Amino acid sequence: MVADSSEELLSVAVNDFIGLLSDVLDSKPVANIVLTGGSLGVAFIGEIAKLELDLSRIRFLFGDERFVAFDHGDRNEQQGILQFPELAHRSLLRYPDANSDLLNAQKLMNKAMTVSFGNVHEQSEVFDLVILGVGPDGHVASLFPGHQNNGEWIVAEPDSPKPPAERLSLSYTALNRAGRVWFLASGAQKTQVIKSALNDADCGLPLARVKGMQETSWYLDKELSDAL
Ligand code: 6PG
Repeated sequence: MVADSSEELLSVAVNDFIGLLSDVLDSKPVANIVLTGGSLGVAFIGEIAKLELDLSRIRFLFGDERFVAFDHGDRNEQQGILQFPELAHRSLLRYPDANSDLLNAQKLMNKAMTVSFGNVHEQSEVFDLVILGVGPDGHVASLFPGHQNNGEWIVAEPDSPKPPAERLSLSYTALNRAGRVWFLASGAQKTQVIKSALNDADCGLPLARVKGMQETSWYLDKELSDAL
């Protein structure tokens, strides 16, 4: 969908989220929702915090996290879900903080994901919805173009071009275990990478490597979409 502004984009995405939740919860007890950081990702969390949702039937997880101290303002959870205690209470797992080293934290988080969801290489859906922002270089979550992405559920990124440098992220395999993937993107500086992904699914950019098993949707603002 194309919206006139970021505000309208968010409002349409939030309405669709309400509809999606109601469909999902008709057929299963709990919905697993993957959130993201970045400006639109954080704003989306602020909007869903205003809704009257049956939070007892939702679990949230971040698709990536900045590897800094738990109380550091750069953490996605600090900017997003921790601002809303009732949502934070429904967090499935917290990524480790920078008390340990990055690779150790990757191992720990990977183990926790395996306990919750089993082997990452199975084919079933584990997330009902994955929300992703898009970087001007085509990154999603903390999966950057040209960077190694070794890992089962979790990838460790030691040198992110977007600060802070150290990050943990769901892997491509993990993100692709989603029923639906929604990309939220605004601003003309993202036009080129979105064009590449829409025109060539094999372009290799991170955003082109994630797809929903049932649905992949784009929420774009007019500035970006007009330039496509
Ligand atoms: C992060 C995010 C990252 C973000 C994109 C888009 O930790 O920064 O998870 O993937 O979603 O960079 O961010 P904007 O919406 O701010 O452009």
